[in-house]
Amino acid sequence: MQENLAQAFTLDGRIAVVTGAASGLGRETAVVLAEAGATPVLCDVNEAGLGETAAQVQRVGAKAIVCPADVADRGAVEMVADKAAALSGRVDIWVNVAGILVNRPVIEAIDEEVDRMLAINLKGVYWGCAAAGRVMCPNRSGSIINFSSSGADNPVPGLSLYSMTKAAVNMLTRTVAKEFGAYGIRANTVAPGWVETAMGTHGFRDETGAIDSDKREEGMRLRAGASPLGIVGTPRDIALAVLYLASDASRFVTGQILRPNGGVSMP
Ligand SMILES: NC(=O)c1ccc[n+]([C@@H]2O[C@H](COP(=O)([O-])OP(=O)(O)OC[C@H]3O[C@@H](n4cnc5c(N)ncnc54)[C@H](O)[C@@H]3O)[C@@H](O)[C@H]2O)c1
Repeated sequence: MQENLAQAFTLDGRIAVVTGAASGLGRETAVVLAEAGATPVLCDVNEAGLGETAAQVQRVGAKAIVCPADVADRGAVEMVADKAAALSGRVDIWVNVAGILVNRPVIEAIDEEVDRMLAINLKGVYWGCAAAGRVMCPNRSGSIINFSSSGADNPVPGLSLYSMTKAAVNMLTRTVAKEFGAYGIRANTVAPGWVETAMGTHGFRDETGAIDSDKREEGMRLRAGASPLGIVGTPRDIALAVLYLASDASRFVTGQILRPNGGVSMP
């Protein structure tokens, strides 16, 4: 039990695997966990992006381990787990952030796209939980954090696949929390509301892929207006929610969905 506040939130000496670490919420999560004292193991398919995240982690005075891998590939995920466990004999935190989004009506579904969404957003998190459980069990402690979305609670036309995978992640987390609890391993979901990242800005782009500033301004205004607080969140707001779930401050919290979303949705 950590009675001291600083001790409750510190991640000093802990090893934290973060998938999707090359961009957006995964990158910010890696930096915040590093600021709290952890050594992040950075996993993503985007090697250039991983290099930039590692540089950002170093700028906050921590060491990052770069571990490129495709989360849809179970063997590759297991190798990330082995590499992380080899650093100090234990893995303390595993954050499954990697995900993709497609926007397409059900009636226009494309087989390959459906398979890809399931492989990354669903099986990727499943393999992450399995690998994390394997390497955390011997130490009888650990915190697994899976990324879902407010899309799991709110149906949005075009986002059927995305929301379906995120709703499945919510249930996977609960099941894992029950299966792994006896080993001292907690599992929780972070379900962010909209924040501005490469994924979040797809609606702001013109046909060349560049951000259209008028669309961006209008999009930000609408999103802020949907929050009782009148604000839009940042990647750091989400990463700080992860920090809570990763730290001993949340030692009594498992099987839960934490929704940093500015109150936009309150299911
Ligand atoms: N941005 C938002 O508004 C928002 C809201 C709710 C939930 N989310 C969730 O947060 C997570 C991160 O989203 P983001 O906004 O940072 O998006 P992002 O596109 O900036 O980052 C996603 C990262 O996942 C990586 N990735 C994709 N496929 C991969 C694979 N097969 N293996 C390993 N890495 C892979 C990408 O390379 C990228 O670095 C996602 O799971 C997303 O669904 C985002």
